Amino acid sequence: MNYGHFDDERREYVITQPDTPLPWINYLGSESYFGLISNTAGGYSFYKDARLRRLTRYRYNNAPLDMGGRYIYLRDNASLQSWSPSWMPTRQQLDSYECRHGMGYTVIKSQLAGIESRTRYFVPLGSPLEIWETTLTNHRDETADLSVFSAVEFALWDANDDATNFQRNYSIGEVEIVGNVIYHKTEYRERRDHFAYFACSEALAGYDTNREAFLGPYWGWDSPRAVTTGQSSNSMAHGWQPIGSHHVKVQLKAGEQKKIIFILGYHENPKDAKFDPPESQTINKKTILPIISRYLDATEVEKAFQALHAHWQGLLDKFQVSTPDVHTNRMVNIWNAYQTMITFNMSRSASYFESGIGRGMGFRDSTQDLLGFVHLIPERARERILDLAATQLPTGGAYHQYRPLTKRGNNDVGSGFNDDPLWLVLAVTAYVKETGDWSILEEPVPYDNQPGSEQPLHDHLQRSLQYTLDRLGPHGLPLIGRADWNDCLNLNCFSDSPGQSFQTTTNKDGKVAESVFIAGLFVLAAKEMAALAERYALQVTSYTFNVQPSTFYTDAISQMEKIIWQHGWDGDWFRRAYDDFGHVLGSKENDEGRIFIEPQGICVMAGLGIEDGRAEKALNSVGEHLATPHGIVLHQPAFTRYYLHLGEISSYPPGYKENASIFCHTNPWIMIAEAKLGHGDKAHDYYSRINPSVREELSDLHRCEPYVYAQTIAGKDAPTHGEAKNSWLTGTAAWNYVAISQWILGIRPTYDGLQVAPVIPSAWSGFEAVRSYRGVRYVIKVERKGAGSEVQLEVDGKSMEGNVIPMPVENTKEVRVRVTII
Ligand code: BGC
Ligand code: NOJ
Repeated sequence: MNYGHFDDERREYVITQPDTPLPWINYLGSESYFGLISNTAGGYSFYKDARLRRLTRYRYNNAPLDMGGRYIYLRDNASLQSWSPSWMPTRQQLDSYECRHGMGYTVIKSQLAGIESRTRYFVPLGSPLEIWETTLTNHRDETADLSVFSAVEFALWDANDDATNFQRNYSIGEVEIVGNVIYHKTEYRERRDHFAYFACSEALAGYDTNREAFLGPYWGWDSPRAVTTGQSSNSMAHGWQPIGSHHVKVQLKAGEQKKIIFILGYHENPKDAKFDPPESQTINKKTILPIISRYLDATEVEKAFQALHAHWQGLLDKFQVSTPDVHTNRMVNIWNAYQTMITFNMSRSASYFESGIGRGMGFRDSTQDLLGFVHLIPERARERILDLAATQLPTGGAYHQYRPLTKRGNNDVGSGFNDDPLWLVLAVTAYVKETGDWSILEEPVPYDNQPGSEQPLHDHLQRSLQYTLDRLGPHGLPLIGRADWNDCLNLNCFSDSPGQSFQTTTNKDGKVAESVFIAGLFVLAAKEMAALAERYALQVTSYTFNVQPSTFYTDAISQMEKIIWQHGWDGDWFRRAYDDFGHVLGSKENDEGRIFIEPQGICVMAGLGIEDGRAEKALNSVGEHLATPHGIVLHQPAFTRYYLHLGEISSYPPGYKENASIFCHTNPWIMIAEAKLGHGDKAHDYYSRINPSVREELSDLHRCEPYVYAQTIAGKDAPTHGEAKNSWLTGTAAWNYVAISQWILGIRPTYDGLQVAPVIPSAWSGFEAVRSYRGVRYVIKVERKGAGSEVQLEVDGKSMEGNVIPMPVENTKEVRVRVTII
């Protein structure tokens, strides 16, 4: 069953039934102020860091689901009926309901008893605040006497403390109320120079800032006493749970419409101008009042919304396609690109599955997220690359995570995930290919953020590769460390104590367990470095490993390939690893975990076996053993019990997460590998199996949002095979974008120009695309004449050799490309 539909024209997903299988959410904000918002107005907001600057409170894992958010309540003061126009939290049956999730905004519209309510939520560009613009329309024949209540529950800034340290929290909450603005200023008296404010455009009939006064003791958000009685109590929060609620009375004549604007925002004052008067404990509001009055003006709100709309239009217009497949079109043109922005901003911190308190920006995650994002805003990609590289350690290793607010490596998690540094090479080379900005390689970047340790970025890349070469195991394959891409393959962990972190516990010195995956990734990264070095002609000799790039990389590549064929090839597929006892994993020798997807994807992407048929063999094995109608699972057979020497991978019940689910992140690697072999049908078939838009009609099974990728879909060993979990924050977004745009549609940036080499399904007669690349608009028309995937290119009417379009002369605005598949 469908719970809504795509509105491709408006770039929206329209939800028409509020009780979706799970909350279907959207994100607000893309710079510093962010919010998560569900289709029933649930969710929360934060400034930059979901843990350290949490504005509003959210209870994960709550029953009922998704209670707490950006609520508006309506009350008919004549009939005494009250309801939530977003359905939650009162769950009153509405006469109509529609939620439109768009690019950086959400609109929830409903009607009950002739009163229509439409609230548009968004974060304007350039201002750390969110706007709720509510429009009420009276469709009755008579005047309506209404009360409108807003409600947010403030978080006491550090979301972790907020959810745990009650002996302190219940005493620290403080607010101020001036006119129609509620200020939340917990801890402002001491070391914070920031506060939150919640403003309303209308004169207030009342307000509440104390949660229990608003709800009534032992009552919930589904039936606040203030709303049901129609009376706010002008409560002041002194400790306990500060909230913000405005009460506005509205008389609407028949057919009349009224707009009410609420703003929830974050503001920082200069340390020496926190208070006004200076010797008081009262917030200095002079710095914020102009911003508040600006956005309480409906014309300004409309302008801000149009600016946001134009911003997204500009971003998405950088790559638009028209193919015979509607699902491909809407994912490439709208939702997949949008999701790459969200993953770029959030890494794995805040979603409805990531609590915002646990995980900072992942090194491995953020470097891969860049691959799908870099064309959208290259300047931000550049900044991110430099931030990430600055957390790299002098060994070339990397902190596994860093905190967005401090940009420092997270010591609690530490380092030792031996694949981490190699992803940096892929991110930087993707950036240079996209932008042609070679200067980034010269940028001085410290190690571990230590002043004085700065080296050019290219030195960081070289150390990344050297890190692998310095850590080879008994077979000559890279040591795995704590884990490689698969965080749950913990071959040095041996944990038998409940509660121990699989990721940070290492009970072995790690000199034996090896990863074939890292070996493949090394070859891929080293090939990228070789190509980079060839064009860049590095002349740096200050490090021992900085031998002449040409032979250094090619030697390292062929040595690693030799070892992979010797010890990483199982006859029909690539093996996965060797454990701490030197036993193979991912081989016919294994009863469980005989074949894994990751090395098949990465090794073929790295070019192994393409010439001699072994790549094809590996991919056929994937098709035979791992592919399901819902996507390709991680491995088979699943682990049926916990194996001390394998770690978290075997902790999950079969078919879930790293134990043989369809871990969507890895599927595009197989799509790319198939495309590399020229198999357009297979590549697109795999693409479609996990495409959320294709899966929309399976919503009761899939359950997560049909407009974004989820991290996992339960595998064939799971009782709920086909059910998705962990939507939004997953490397799946970036990799699928790369797979479809660069390999299946075949439009990919290279150092020398835009390459066009489509490997599309045989049934497609062609497609059209527009791609902005280094300031030039490429208008591309692809036509299929033959069955294969060889192409002939005609650029601005002239046929050319090869498939890489040389950069046009300066100031060229547009290039027309006709591509014939022969
Ligand atoms: C999850 C992994 C994740 C890891 C992060 C594990 O529990 O299964 O997907 O990468 O935690 O620490
Ligand atoms: C999720 C993590 O964010 C990512 O870094 C990891 O590669 C996958 N899980 C697989 O374990």
